[in-house]
Amino acid sequence: MENADETVTLKFNKTGESYELPVIKSSIGPNVIDIRRLYAETGYFTYDPGFTSTASCSSAITYIDGNKGILSHRGYSIKELAEKSNYLEVCYLLLNGELPKNEEFNKFSINITKYSLLHEQLKYFFRGFRRDAHPMSIMVASVGALSAFYHDSLDVNDPKQRELAAHRLIAKMPTLAALAYKYSIGQPFIYPRNNLSYAENFLHMTFAVPSEKYEVSPTLAKAMDKILILHADHEQNASTSTVRLAGSSMANPFACIASGIASLWGPAHGGANEAVLNMLDEIGSVDNISKFIAKAKDKSDPFRLMGFGHRVYKNYDPRAAVLKKSCDEVLGELGIENDPQLKLAMELEKIALEDEYFVERKLFPNVDFYSGIILKAMGFPTSMFTVLFALSRTVGWISQWKEMIQEPTHKIGRPRQLYTGAKPRKYVPIDER
Ligand code: CMC
Repeated sequence: MENADETVTLKFNKTGESYELPVIKSSIGPNVIDIRRLYAETGYFTYDPGFTSTASCSSAITYIDGNKGILSHRGYSIKELAEKSNYLEVCYLLLNGELPKNEEFNKFSINITKYSLLHEQLKYFFRGFRRDAHPMSIMVASVGALSAFYHDSLDVNDPKQRELAAHRLIAKMPTLAALAYKYSIGQPFIYPRNNLSYAENFLHMTFAVPSEKYEVSPTLAKAMDKILILHADHEQNASTSTVRLAGSSMANPFACIASGIASLWGPAHGGANEAVLNMLDEIGSVDNISKFIAKAKDKSDPFRLMGFGHRVYKNYDPRAAVLKKSCDEVLGELGIENDPQLKLAMELEKIALEDEYFVERKLFPNVDFYSGIILKAMGFPTSMFTVLFALSRTVGWISQWKEMIQEPTHKIGRPRQLYTGAKPRKYVPIDER
């Protein structure tokens, strides 16, 4: 990290004391004020719940400019990656920092393919779940359980073991996700097939049944691959920060990714695409849109328009732009442009984009708005939407985790607090209270 040629002076008006704080240079985007010595030198903490102005780490993986609607990985724009690359290549890029040469890509793909099988005993875990268990609850549990099976990739201090854990996680997530789905509908588990691409293999394990031949549609496989690319990483969001915080104590990578999955599950984060479809169900018909838009604007009503707004993007979400196009292709291929729920979604999008409340607050449709629609059209039940997000994001989580562990100055994450509780007081025995 390099200091910028500027400093910031912090002045306490009450005492007149002032402190000079260094500024660290970013490669693009805002520089940061270095407050690491603030408490030691002044006795003060900073207060920033929700981290709206705090860089919790330095990272060279993903860059977002929310005002301009920019998202890039290792310098490559998401639009270009979604158009020209494929998910496994993006995985390699996120993990290793550079796009692979042919030979490197082949080796990486073979590695990921070879680890796609699960330990047979892991399947018995599934039987303990009720059939109506949410697949995300199964994912949190089964990814955490991987640490009980792969003891040769738990030592976080060994770079080889870290790499092995990363490859295993990327390889096994589709198998686990498909298994969670098959379990919920009572169908037999379909084993991975090594001759298929990553996206094709996932669709195959999810939708094939042993009793008939299943051909993966190239349009659907392409759309699936795009969805995977678009969700692969997104800087220091809630789930990624959770993975980093869990990993900062040197916890094993499988446990850390399980913590990320738990955080992703919430409706304000990865659960939003599922919430979009549930909301469309609740709205019911185009005639009710204005009533629900009014509810979304009413501050006394907790209802929010799911799939709209983003903490970082105050412009069109660049991932949403790519998916909107993909959405048209998938609906065209499946011949379901006239599905009433999809029509409702399109009408809602149009009305919200023109509404002053949404325009003023820069609340654009986010990636979840379209991913929900595409995934529904592909045949995924809504409960699987967040699972797909977790599957795509695993590479981002593990790349960020790996980056953190490799950082020479890495420390356990330990935020401080603004205490607002009771001052010291004397304990009163129970019968005197
Ligand atoms: N519907 C109605 N009003 C909204 C919405 C919405 N979806 N999102 C934000 N607002 C309003 C909010 O009430 C506030 O209004 P005011 O300034 O009058 O008080 C203003 O817009 C700013 O909102 P905020 O709560 O300060 O924004 P935030 O950055 O804290 O929240 C968000 C971001 C994504 C949690 C929020 O926009 C939201 O709840 N959206 C719906 C859920 C959703 O689609 N989440 C997926 C995010 S993308 C996937 C991911 O990266 O995880």
